Amino acid sequence: APLQSRNSFGVRARAPMLVEVADAGALPQVLQRPELSDGIALVLGGGSNLLFAGDPAGVVLALAGRRTTVVPGSDNDDGAIVRADAGVIWHELVLRTLDIGLSGLENLALIPGTAGAAPIQNIGAYGVEVCDYIHAVEAFEPATGKLHRLDRDACRFAYRDSLFKQQPDRYIVTAVEFALPRSPRLKLDYAGIGEQLDAEGITAPTPRDVADAVIAIRRRKLPDPDRLGNAGSFFKNPIVPATQADALLAEHPALPAFRGNDAHSRKLSAAWLIDACGWKGHRDGDAGVAASHALVLVNHGHASGQQLLDLARRIAESVHARFGVALEPEPRVIGASW
Ligand code: EPU
Repeated sequence: APLQSRNSFGVRARAPMLVEVADAGALPQVLQRPELSDGIALVLGGGSNLLFAGDPAGVVLALAGRRTTVVPGSDNDDGAIVRADAGVIWHELVLRTLDIGLSGLENLALIPGTAGAAPIQNIGAYGVEVCDYIHAVEAFEPATGKLHRLDRDACRFAYRDSLFKQQPDRYIVTAVEFALPRSPRLKLDYAGIGEQLDAEGITAPTPRDVADAVIAIRRRKLPDPDRLGNAGSFFKNPIVPATQADALLAEHPALPAFRGNDAHSRKLSAAWLIDACGWKGHRDGDAGVAASHALVLVNHGHASGQQLLDLARRIAESVHARFGVALEPEPRVIGASW
């Protein structure tokens, strides 16, 4: 089965077989099928956080369930629990929750991909991570044939990380529950949201206004994958010891640095490091770096996954040579190791 239209980089790849499962409840029977005796090579969501540097080595599974429901009995004056099937389009879920008066997901508007993929890399933007609002994750474990319900702590969330990312092939996420409040706790202090609202003359923003501001900022800064193939940020912002960050900051005071996972670590702006090495807008054939954002690799047309991976490696090598900082890809790389 061709996968070119199922990955947001738009690179060519093929799976020996693609199995779409509408009802996650059918997974145990589906996985018993003889064609699947070697297991699943890859679970595909929106294909917006992976790079096919080669073909997947076996069957690719996609969950097509698209129901969104308010969990019965969970709805009260404070908020509600919303349950989304893995196949629900993330941005549609965000808009739907805002429409029914629930808040929390507004800063995560317009992130490509599916609800089922959201917990895997703990998607985040503009000062919010999805784990802030995850109540539980339902996941099928092929090795045991069991359907688990993992509460938030069990998911071991961290910056762009989770149990599901640490143990990539152990679980198939089938649904996600979000605990969403009715009274908004808006986060406006990050990456231009306040300025965007000011520019629009909005002084008492609603969560929907914040979502609209985020949508406007993302449209300005990030290339639209429907027009120019990309997977959002290609590298994670590196987390380094505070001592190393201090030494770098002494030499490069403009380098944006934030608190890391704890008080002894700092998260550095990968975009700034890459930009400083002169990569923004760079192009090798059809593999390139976005002109609007140094952290986003783009496919100008017919780049292969391998060409994009080669470019990514050269970028990481130059950042390492100049700053002594190791960059790691954010998307999952299929068919090659980093
Ligand atoms: N910057 C540059 N050059 C550039 C772009 C940015 O020097 O070309 C510097 C600027 O100083 C800017 C800083 O980098 O202030 C940070 O840039 P930005 O606000 O765009 O955020 P980011 O750290 O590059 C992260 C997420 C994005 C998310 C934004 C906004 C990661 C890997 N990426 O990017 O997530 O949308 O913050 O919150 O954490 C994604 O994961 O795919 C993604 C797009």
